[in-house]
Amino acid sequence: MSEQIRVLLPEEELDRRIAELGAQISADYAGESVHLICILKGSIFITCELAKRLTIPVTIDFMCVSSYGAAMESSGVITIKKDLEESIEGRNVIVVEDIIDTGRTLQYLLEELSNRKPKDLKLCAMLDKPDRRVTDVSVDYTGFEIPDEFVVGYGLDYDQRYRNLPYVGILTLS
Ligand code: IMP
Ligand code: MG
Repeated sequence: MSEQIRVLLPEEELDRRIAELGAQISADYAGESVHLICILKGSIFITCELAKRLTIPVTIDFMCVSSYGAAMESSGVITIKKDLEESIEGRNVIVVEDIIDTGRTLQYLLEELSNRKPKDLKLCAMLDKPDRRVTDVSVDYTGFEIPDEFVVGYGLDYDQRYRNLPYVGILTLS
């Protein structure tokens, strides 16, 4: 089977939108600091790019949860493969996700993280596929809403490949 990738969001467009999100978050948290939680591995690119554009004090921690195998569908069974290193109690936490699809991963994460008593818990997602949502999670900071297509690049993978593409592209198999 061969794989084709068609550009959906070029690098310049992602850059521009991330700069806007950075400005918005910096304004919303003016005079405070934020603690970004990068959900490995897909969110590494968006987390770094966003963090560079925040003008308020920032700290970053990482968490790895499994929701996908090699397939294109979320399993609904989510486990923490790597937990945070620092406590989030009393902090302004922003969970940074690459993409919200069914929302199952985020629903699980939100419940888990809110139990740890952050001062504030918000979500930032580079991409949102609203048509696919099966939960009622809402995203506070969204980069782009995209159609129901399987996308790769800018951190997103297909079977661990294509994360390094500097753009977001639609993957089709034929
Ligand atoms: P959800 O639990 O269905 O919302 O799935 C969220 C996770 O599934 C994301 O963090 C991605 O790792 C993965 N995912 C969902 N849609 C895509 C896609 O179009 N391309 C690559 N990974 C995806
Ligand atoms: Mg993935």
